[in-house]
Amino acid sequence: MNNISKGKSPFYPGQPVPVDFFTGRIDEIKRIARAIGQVESGKPLSVFLTGEYGIGKSSLAGFMRYYSEKNNHLIGIHVLLGGANTIDELATKTVEAVINSQIYEPTITTKIRNALSKYIGEQEFLGFKINFEALKADAPNLSHGYLPFLRDLFSRLRENGIKGIMLILDEINGITGNPQFAHFIKSLVDENALQKEPLPLMLMLCGVEERRREMIQHHQPIERIFDIVEIKPMDSNEMRDFFNKSFGSVSMQVQDTSMNLLCYYSAGFPKIMHLIGDTVFWVDRDGIVDENDAVNSILISAEEIGKKFVDQQVYNALKSKDYHSILEKLGKEKFDLSFNVKNVEKGLSDTEKKKFNNFLQRMKRLNVLKSGDKRGEYIFNSLLVRLYIFMNSVKKKSALSKLLTLP
Ligand SMILES: Nc1ncnc2c1ncn2[C@@H]1O[C@H](COP(=O)(O)OP(=O)(O)OP(=O)(O)O)[C@@H](O)[C@H]1O
Ligand SMILES: [Mg+2]
Repeated sequence: MNNISKGKSPFYPGQPVPVDFFTGRIDEIKRIARAIGQVESGKPLSVFLTGEYGIGKSSLAGFMRYYSEKNNHLIGIHVLLGGANTIDELATKTVEAVINSQIYEPTITTKIRNALSKYIGEQEFLGFKINFEALKADAPNLSHGYLPFLRDLFSRLRENGIKGIMLILDEINGITGNPQFAHFIKSLVDENALQKEPLPLMLMLCGVEERRREMIQHHQPIERIFDIVEIKPMDSNEMRDFFNKSFGSVSMQVQDTSMNLLCYYSAGFPKIMHLIGDTVFWVDRDGIVDENDAVNSILISAEEIGKKFVDQQVYNALKSKDYHSILEKLGKEKFDLSFNVKNVEKGLSDTEKKKFNNFLQRMKRLNVLKSGDKRGEYIFNSLLVRLYIFMNSVKKKSALSKLLTLP
């Protein structure tokens, strides 16, 4: 294989992974599958899918939607609430998600479109055009009648063998700031439970833990309605499976040492796996991923994450040279989300030591760190930021040789 004949990259940085390339998460899948089974047999359930930014919440939700449609005859609605701040917007986005969904069987698609015909304009070449004016005008009715809307949809599809609805509310960062959202969710769940025959509804929210806490702050009883499924960084088997499957799909082979490097620097983070994997795909020239390909790709990927994200938010904000060198030393600490002040202090110069406390306060204000539960413990808010700072520190000094010797 040479670089001229490169086809489509099997990596999807920045997008939820297609079902075919979805890897791992067996325990989480089993837990959610059990809940979906309950819903199929008529019992409504709610799950809060949580985990760090970029850990794979939307991908797992998308996979479970596919799973529930194939195995449990649910109808999946995946609503991306980015940019929505009100319940009216949530309602209209739900209708849009139903209309735009491409993956139902044709008879079901036709039925859904008939049911929602008042919101659909003329047919376009690939699908339907939503009549946004009609939808917007109807938003208050839709948001007040949200559960009846879902029940109506379900009752129309029952005769087609549909057993329930899987409603995924994703990208909830904006809307959780609105206190009405927590109340809306609680009422939706309670109102449904009180029906003589509740709608078999699998309600899944996807968001970082802070968003769940924000909802609880707005309305305490939210705490009790969700089963929490937390997505953790992938283990090395999952990462290996992922790289083997993805590279294998384009007939590329990964040498053992390169595999170790790719896994180590991805640190279980699917977002980084895709970024590094995609870079390797374009860097490699002979279909064999050797150490050189791996190392070059890791360096290029580190640059990319850093330039887009950390440089702007962290390095530029920390003007002092001492702060930069503290950050570099911190980056080289044992790779972990948390660290202890005492351990880091040992490696600092006297002037750095004096500035260390101010540095930590700055990093807290920049939302890079938060205080941990133990004395002297600090935790990185995001593993991505931790990873870049780490990669950046390693890179500065003889990056290549360091990268090649795994800790
Ligand atoms: N199980 C998986 N197998 C393979 N790739 C995955 C998996 N989960 C996530 N990814 C990839 O990781 C990246 C982040 O995934 P995703 O967008 O699902 O995360 P997220 O937790 O929803 O992120 P955010 O917090 O930004 O919403 C994407 O590039 C996605 O393709
Ligand atoms: Mg997401």
